[in-house]
This record gives sequence, structure tokens and C-alpha cells, in this order.
Amino acid sequence: MQSIGDFRGWRQARPDAGKVHPKLRLPAPVPVREEFVPSELFDEDYLWFMEDALDERSDAEVELILRLLELAPGAEVLDAPCGHGRIANRVAGRGWRVAGLDSSRLFLGIARERAPEGVEYVEGDLRDMPFEGRFDAAINWYSSFGYFDDQGNQRVLEGFRRALKPGGKLLIEQASREMLVANIPPSGRAVWMVERGDDLQIDQVTFDPVAGRSHTQRIIVRDGRVRRTGFSLAQPTAAQLIAMLRDAGFEDVRAFDETGGQFTTKSRRLVMLASSLAEV
Ligand SMILES: C[S@@+](CC[C@H](N)C(=O)[O-])C[C@H]1O[C@@H](n2cnc3c(N)ncnc32)[C@H](O)[C@@H]1O
Repeated sequence: MQSIGDFRGWRQARPDAGKVHPKLRLPAPVPVREEFVPSELFDEDYLWFMEDALDERSDAEVELILRLLELAPGAEVLDAPCGHGRIANRVAGRGWRVAGLDSSRLFLGIARERAPEGVEYVEGDLRDMPFEGRFDAAINWYSSFGYFDDQGNQRVLEGFRRALKPGGKLLIEQASREMLVANIPPSGRAVWMVERGDDLQIDQVTFDPVAGRSHTQRIIVRDGRVRRTGFSLAQPTAAQLIAMLRDAGFEDVRAFDETGGQFTTKSRRLVMLASSLAEV
């Protein structure tokens, strides 16, 4: 199976490499809020820079999802957050009943426009999931876990457990913390860049090993305008995520890499599969 890397499509900005592009003269860093506003980050600019790279990996990701979930005929699947529906619509296209939840009206609108018949899209917050015992499986894909403080993140897992039928499966996919840390240079700040035409998305990423969180300052240069935003993401190790899942009422927790193989220190992505308990 094709290997899916977190950093594909990104390149390390090299301000020292000869001629410096005028757009690379970075403004002073701005403080990063712990609680980010999703609509400031997941917007039209996000799709402009990320959609092609995301769509390119989607077919392989859906293969992996279906292989790991081993869904029974007639199973119903929740994709949360579903973003612009790239996973949910493909899973539905393979014949499964699917619901997607996201907080972005913009993304949900795109997801609905591209959906095959019967996909249900719901606007909602991950911390307040409006489902009870309905799904056979739930998908939380592409670093979509860890946006909140410890309590908020735990609440997200508990919401997934409540949304699932007893024995239902949860699949979480995120960057491997080991790989993330290995990609932070000795200066303590990694700079990752996505380029589209003359437009740039520049992420300056630091990692706080005490809090176990990455902090990203994002600078978007688009059509000559500069916009700055930022976010912080909890980056639990596999062991920490297993403990959180057990506390939220999951068992049989297993860790895979981005190909569905064994998770190791060299894996780019961590894919966690867990089964919900009937009673907590
Ligand atoms: C990195 S994207 C991933 C989307 C999708 N899983 C994918 O693989 O393309 C994260 C998504 O989380 C959504 N989001 C952020 N905060 C949220 C919240 N509190 N509740 C629901 N969705 C949220 C954003 O709108 C965005 O669509």
C-alpha cells in the first residue's frame, strides 16, 4: 500500500538558500492562543492550499480505513470532523451508510454538494456530539484530535463512545509525536511551507514537551495580502492515547502506522483502533 506521509506536499523553507523570496521575510511571531477559533483556520484559504494534497491521498486513506474497520454489511459510519467530506463521501460511495459532523458550514456545504445519495451531514461541535448508540464505526481522521485542553479532548472521546453501539469501532489518525519531534530542528522551530502559484502558507511549529502540545503560527500570503493565525494541538504519544481511550470506555486498543502495519518510532502517522464498551 502507498505510504501516506504527513509532510508530503510540504517543504522545509530555507531562508538561507541563496536569494530570499520577498514573501519569506516573516513578520514578528504572534502569540498562539490555546483555544483556537476553527473558522479562522478551516476556511477557504485552508482548502486553497490543502485540498489538492488531501484529495491525492484520500483514495489510499479510505482503503486503509475500510481494511482496518472490517465493517459488517449494512454498517453505519460516523466521520467526525468530516471537513469537506473527502472521506465520508468516498466511504458512502463504497456502499456504506455514512453521517458526517463538522463545525464548518463552508466545508459542510461542499461536502453536501459532492455527496452521493443518502449521506447525512450535521453541523456540530466535537465536544458535544448529538448521537447515542447509533454507529458501528467512527472515524476521526487527519490530525483532528487534540484541539482542546485535556478535559475537552477527553470529552471528544466520550462523545465518540456514546455515539457508537456497544462494540463499535473508533479509528483515530494523527501525526506520530515521535516523527513530529524528529522534524523540529535544533533551533526549536520548524518552518513548513506550502506554495500555490505566488501564494504561500507558512507554518512555524514549536513543540512543548512538558505540555505535550505543538504550537503553530500560520502566515498566509494570498493575492498579496498577509494573514496570520495560530493553533495549538495536543500530540499524545500512543501510550497516552491508549490510556485516554480506556478512560473514555474503549477496549482492545491497537496502534498501526500509515500503511496499517506495525507502529514504530519511524512511522509518520499513528492510526489507533479501539472498540467501545457497553457499560463504563
Ligand atoms: C484537519 S481538518 C480534517 C477534516 C477531515 N477529517 C479530513 O480528513 O479531511 C479538521 C476539521 O475539524 C473541524 N473542526 C475544528 N474544530 C471543530 C469542532 N470544535 N467541532 C467540529 N468540527 C471541528 C474543522 O472545521 C475541519 O473541517
